[in-house]
Amino acid sequence: MTLRPLDPPPALIAYSARADIFLARALPPEDQPPQELHRAMRYAVLGGGKRLRPVLVYATGTALAAPLETLDAAAAAVEIIHAYSLVHDDLPAMDDDSLRRGQPTCHVAFGEAMAILAGDALQALAFEVLAADSALKADSSTHVEILQILATACGSYGMAGGQALDLAAVGQRLTPDELERMHVHKTGALIRASVRLGALAAGCRDKAMLAALDHYGHCIGLAFQIRDDIIDVEGDSATLGKTAGKDAANGKPTYPAILGMQASRAKLAELTDAAVAALQPHGACMTELIALARYVAERES
Ligand code: IPE
Ligand code: IPE
Ligand code: MG
Ligand code: MG
Ligand code: MG
Repeated sequence: MTLRPLDPPPALIAYSARADIFLARALPPEDQPPQELHRAMRYAVLGGGKRLRPVLVYATGTALAAPLETLDAAAAAVEIIHAYSLVHDDLPAMDDDSLRRGQPTCHVAFGEAMAILAGDALQALAFEVLAADSALKADSSTHVEILQILATACGSYGMAGGQALDLAAVGQRLTPDELERMHVHKTGALIRASVRLGALAAGCRDKAMLAALDHYGHCIGLAFQIRDDIIDVEGDSATLGKTAGKDAANGKPTYPAILGMQASRAKLAELTDAAVAALQPHGACMTELIALARYVAERES
C-alpha cells in the first residue's frame, strides 16, 4: 500500500536546513587523512535524513526563547550519534540492510571495517562537538549535565542497550511491556535526550517545564519507533529510502507483529495525545513541538 504524501511542518524544513550547514562544517574534510574514513563519516551523516532529532533540539530551545546559535552544537551532536547508530544498525551483524536514506548503506559503499570505524569516530565526534562549544561552555554545570545526558542516552542504559534487546529478541514473542522497553531504549532514549538537551541549552531550570518537556520527549520517542514499525509494513522502499518489510523478514518483534495494526495505531494516537497534552498548558510557544508530535505519528518516511 502506498501512503499518502504529508507536508512536513515548516519547523522541520527550516531547522533541518540549519542543522545541515552546521553538520557539514563539524565533520572532518574529505581531503584530510585518513580520507576514506572521513569520506565514510560524511557519507553517513550528510546523505539525507529527516533531521528530526536536531529539529527537536532547535524547536525546544526556540520554545524557551533561546537564540539558535546556542543550540547548534547540541543539535549536531544528536544527529551525529543518530547517524552512527544507523551505520551500525545496518551492518550484516545487526539488521543487514543495503539501503539507507535512498542510498547504499555505509558498509555497502565503504566496506564493513570502514563502516564500523566511521560509527566509532562519529560517536567520538558528537562528544567533541558538544564539549568544544563556546556557547555551552559559559555555564559549566549545565555543560557537564548535557554531556552526561547524551552519554546515558546512547550507552548501555539507552540506545546501545535497546539495540542489544532488539538483537536478543529476534524470533522471540515479546510481551507488550518487553516490546515497549526495547523501543523506549533503542529509539526513544535519543529522541527524549534531544528535547532535554534543547531545554538545558536554553538555560531552562523550571522544574515543571522540564518535566512537561521530558514527558513529551518520552511519548514521541516511543511513538516514533511504533510509526517506524508500521511504515516498515505499509510503506514502500522508494518512499522509506530503506528496504520495506525487513522487520518481518528478519524476525523482529514489532508493534504490528505483537499487538496487531489496529492496536498499534491506537497506541500511537494515545502517545501523541499524551505528548500534546503535556505541552498545551504552556501556551503558544509550544506550537512547533505540538506540530512535530503530530508529524511523528503521521510521517510516511
Ligand atoms: C530511523 O530513524 C531509525 C529509527 C530510530 C527508527 P529516522 O527515521 O529518523 O531516520 P532518518 O534520519 O530520517 O534517515
Ligand atoms: C533502529 O531501529 C534503532 C537505531 C538505529 C538505534 P530500526 O532497525 O527499526 O531502524 P531502521 O528501520 O533500520 O531505520
Ligand atoms: Mg535495528
Ligand atoms: Mg534497522
Ligand atoms: Mg525499523
